Amino acid sequence: MLKKLFSYVFPITIFKTKSNISKSIEVTWVNGELLIDSENTNYSYGSLQRILRIGLKQIGFSSIQSMNNILVLGVAGGSVIKTLVNEVGYKGKIKGVDIDPEIIEVANTYFQLNSIPNVEIVIQDAFEYVLRCKDHYDLVIIDVFQDKEMPNFLFEHFFINHTLSLLNSNGFVLFNTMLLKEADNKRNKNFIQQLDAKLYKINAIPRIESHNELILIQKKP
Ligand SMILES: C[S@@+](CC[C@H](N)C(=O)[O-])C[C@H]1O[C@@H](n2cnc3c(N)ncnc32)[C@H](O)[C@@H]1O
Repeated sequence: MLKKLFSYVFPITIFKTKSNISKSIEVTWVNGELLIDSENTNYSYGSLQRILRIGLKQIGFSSIQSMNNILVLGVAGGSVIKTLVNEVGYKGKIKGVDIDPEIIEVANTYFQLNSIPNVEIVIQDAFEYVLRCKDHYDLVIIDVFQDKEMPNFLFEHFFINHTLSLLNSNGFVLFNTMLLKEADNKRNKNFIQQLDAKLYKINAIPRIESHNELILIQKKP
């Protein structure tokens, strides 16, 4: 508790490791909050949690409460899962998919992710998971990063069309993206243009915490 208190004065890192996916994974107390940072960015809790909370508010907490099945691609410490369970009051099933077993170990050790009963974690590449998936979801959260990089497959037709095909009628995809250079703005514009506006309601929430854009896609009935 002393570390938490001192963290209002300066950040205190309590654990550091690396994995095949992330060069650095740090668990740090900052302003009384425990969060995970990768080498160059915040990975879980902190600003990342605030960003996705804005997307969930846009969908509406009461709509989410009535959902049954949520898929989270990119779990890290599980901050969006905690928001869903503790703040939204969502009681349905959550499937979390992450490629990195080390970060899930950190999530279980420091954030007790494995103590949430309605959560099942799968260690797998999100691309592979989506291609093989036979289940349907009311909400798919895409939050896949390798440090500050977003794998290219996320913006490809093939992947997003498969992901959208997993949605129930009226279901949502909430896609967290990072805009660090002009090319990223173009990438997001192209991505949005390729979506079929007859089938989906599309809403971009730009410049959240200065570098993020959330793309919210809802399947029309
Ligand atoms: C920003 S963090 C996710 C934060 C999380 N959504 C939360 O609410 O705290 C990004 C995660 O994407 C994962 N990741 C990176 N590439 C992946 C891939 N191809 N498939 C699945 N997960 C991947 C990383 O291991 C990392 O845990």
